[in-house]
Amino acid sequence: MKTRKRLLLLLLGMLACSAAAEAIEPISTSIAVGMAAALTGFLASYQNILYYFNECCRSEWISFNRTGLEADLENKLFGQHIASRIVLKAVNGFMSNENPKKPLVLSLHGWTGTGKNFVSQLIGESIYREGMASSFVHIFTSELHFPHSGQIETYKAQLQQWIKGNVSNCARSMFIFDEMDKMHPGLIDGIKPYLDYYDKLDGISYRKAIFIFLSNAGGERITQTALDFWTAGRNREEMELRDLETDLSLSVFNNKKSGLWHTSLIDKNLVDFFVPFLPLEYRHVVQCVLAEMKARGNTSGMKVADQVARDVIYFPKSERVFAVKGCKGIESKLDYYT
Ligand SMILES: *[C@@H]1O[C@H](CO)[C@@H](O)[C@H](O)[C@H]1NC(C)=O
Ligand SMILES: *[C@@H]1O[C@H](CO)[C@@H](O)[C@H](O)[C@H]1NC(C)=O
Ligand SMILES: *[C@@H]1O[C@H](CO)[C@@H](O)[C@H](O)[C@H]1NC(C)=O
Repeated sequence: MKTRKRLLLLLLGMLACSAAAEAIEPISTSIAVGMAAALTGFLASYQNILYYFNECCRSEWISFNRTGLEADLENKLFGQHIASRIVLKAVNGFMSNENPKKPLVLSLHGWTGTGKNFVSQLIGESIYREGMASSFVHIFTSELHFPHSGQIETYKAQLQQWIKGNVSNCARSMFIFDEMDKMHPGLIDGIKPYLDYYDKLDGISYRKAIFIFLSNAGGERITQTALDFWTAGRNREEMELRDLETDLSLSVFNNKKSGLWHTSLIDKNLVDFFVPFLPLEYRHVVQCVLAEMKARGNTSGMKVADQVARDVIYFPKSERVFAVKGCKGIESKLDYYT
């Protein structure tokens, strides 16, 4: 009896999810409708429970929380006034559009530890109820997923199959590519078709998907600009995207290692937003430590925060303005001090 009930629940769970799929075969639709009709009472009471327990490609599980993202960017991300503004505007605009012309493509640039991974996590959490654990969020790291340059063709076919398979399962899928500057150009070529303005590719629309590229490319230029501001005694918060934009595209174009992928993506205007991440100063590291302590339930740690932040290494050597690793590794440092 128990097993039968469980089987039925499982079946209904599958129905609940597949009912959301846009392209459903006529036969299974009629079966679904027939079953649903027969089990109306049962369904009515169990449907919500099923949606509740089983992550589905439905608004119960996927819906953008603008206030949430805005609050998170404001309270949990430090020293990134430009990135914060662009990301909110980009994601909000995209998610409010019922019929986007192309998938959202964000390219996040900056020094290590400045918050690129963190921001993609905040985006994921603002869209998927399961956050980064959602089965609709996919993260690829070149060193982990595509380590051997001799197997690029295999990787490429596999990656295309994954993107295709996942987007046909759920149009609102998110793909994050870490260490994009280390990614083989052949693989990037493989992704390109999915980023473009196609209505449909092989019957599948990719226009509701989100692609996020993370890279250190342009980080040096961004840092130089931030340092120029600092040297001139100008307020960091006065820095605007246009102060960085030319630098960013220049360095991205000129950098031999990363130039290739960017050139081809930029040339075709496939990247919707370049998001620069500024290097972090002492006060931002302090904020990171305080936030981490607060997350651990300790709000009385200014002294510790100071200690941890002072223990971090800063550059350039003479001025010591920016943290070499940003807020990376703060957690383990904090373990040491408390
Ligand atoms: C959106 O985020 C805010 C702030 O984190 C939270 O209070 C609110 O409950 C969220 N709304 C939904 C519908 O999840
Ligand atoms: C979705 O992507 C994951 C990798 O994140 C892959 O393992 C899985 O096979 C893909 N699913 C489909 C249906 O292609
Ligand atoms: C908070 O951290 C400080 C400094 O390490 C420590 O003295 C204090 O006991 C901590 N408080 C709590 C509630 O953990």
